[in-house]
Amino acid sequence: QPNIPFTFTLFGATGDLSMRKILPALFVAHREGKLHQDGRIICVSKQDFSQEDYLAWVSKSAAPYVKGGGVQDPAVWQAFLARLTYLPLDLLDSGGYQALAQVLAARQAVSVFYLATAPALFEPICANLAASKIDLSQARVVLEKPLGHDLLSSRAINDAVARVFAEEQIYRIDHYLGKEAVQNLLALRFANSLFEPLWRRESVAHVQLTIAEQLGVEGRGDFYEGTGALRDMVQNHLLQLLCMVAMEPPTSMDADAVRDEKLRVLRALKPFSPEDMELKAVRGQYVSGAVDGQSVAGYQQEPGVAPQSRTETFVALHAEINNWRWAGVPFFLRTGKRLAHRTAEIIITFRPIPHAILPMPGGQAGASSNRLVIRLQPDESIQLHCLAKQPGDGMTVQPVALDLAFDQAFKQRRAEAYERLLVDAIRGNLSLFVRRDEQEAAWRWVEPLQRHWQTSSAAPKPYMAGSWGPTASFAMMERAGAQWPEDR
Ligand code: BG6
Repeated sequence: QPNIPFTFTLFGATGDLSMRKILPALFVAHREGKLHQDGRIICVSKQDFSQEDYLAWVSKSAAPYVKGGGVQDPAVWQAFLARLTYLPLDLLDSGGYQALAQVLAARQAVSVFYLATAPALFEPICANLAASKIDLSQARVVLEKPLGHDLLSSRAINDAVARVFAEEQIYRIDHYLGKEAVQNLLALRFANSLFEPLWRRESVAHVQLTIAEQLGVEGRGDFYEGTGALRDMVQNHLLQLLCMVAMEPPTSMDADAVRDEKLRVLRALKPFSPEDMELKAVRGQYVSGAVDGQSVAGYQQEPGVAPQSRTETFVALHAEINNWRWAGVPFFLRTGKRLAHRTAEIIITFRPIPHAILPMPGGQAGASSNRLVIRLQPDESIQLHCLAKQPGDGMTVQPVALDLAFDQAFKQRRAEAYERLLVDAIRGNLSLFVRRDEQEAAWRWVEPLQRHWQTSSAAPKPYMAGSWGPTASFAMMERAGAQWPEDR
């Protein structure tokens, strides 16, 4: 895509997300020469900053989050700040948008509106943009999560945005789709002939997707109380990863070709029956413990959290996909805060050999010894676990891994998720953004479980901070004849 002149209007420009993710990512794109020299960033927020004060604040609050340097070089940093214009604006006051309209009208550039505000503001922002007669015909709008807290509220947000923007103009961010290793999963699947014949129920015993965090709710207790791990991580990030693993090969990398295939997976997810909700879904909440040797408070002691809170900070699910490729293959999804390590990985476990003619490690003739492990975090790697003969006399086999560590294989710098996604939004590439129907299909699947948990008399299962979650999660695996990697 061409490197084009643009005007990037950042709503919520004084917020945490702007300082921690968006402005640092835009800076890195600038540093790497990915932004057209006629690219301006209009920073909009209610606060009454002068231009000078705002830039000073960006230097103080956003610069520390930049990865890979450049901030210390005054020429580079000042050239970035020169792109920024601070525009104080009450987002609910339609009259105030005239100033923005004037700035935009004076520019010959594609407009990108980035809504890094509370979702309650999406509707008024879009309506006010339309009312202020800004030419939106070529514009794009980027939406940050959470896009609603259930199907109905996400529909209301989507409807409000759709009154002003066409679907091809709407970029819904799921930053997991911008991660390098997720892109690599597509390369692994669709640039190699090796895996495709095995990528199905006949060869795959089960698939595990884990996003584990060591962090707690990081001062976001208020927000997290009304959210929980199912909405915060499963409905979006984990289901998007699941789609990337399970989708049929799209006919091209065209945005809609890819999104059509992801949608088919989401629609094929088997709904949880009342019995499944007990046996194939676990929710947990951390109590005080220690992470990396540091003692940490329990969730209920975090600021902004109710003392009797029932919000889940951990979820483990046994999902299934009702189609010919995957029928009967468990897809285990797991995420949690305050777990033992920060890791995000996909493990595809292949079926065991039908008949052992060699002594197998641990005498486990029926155990699977082939696993493909795709690690997204903290480092990116792909490992294929096999058995190989141990040198020496006899025929003893041992597990070994064919190991591809990306930082060793490729010396190039790898773009961070936000950098990639923001540049894609500016250039008009929708492939890594979530389409409305995908988002709604994901809500449709998650919502009955959410409702069940809301009305259930049982509380989330406690787990100690620094552990791998409640024992019920291990029991859920055992029922399906599988194990989490920590349990092997
Ligand atoms: C966000 C969630 O979407 O993803 C956070 O709201 C979570 O709660 C974060 O911490 C995890 O992202 P990453 O890229 O650090 O794994």
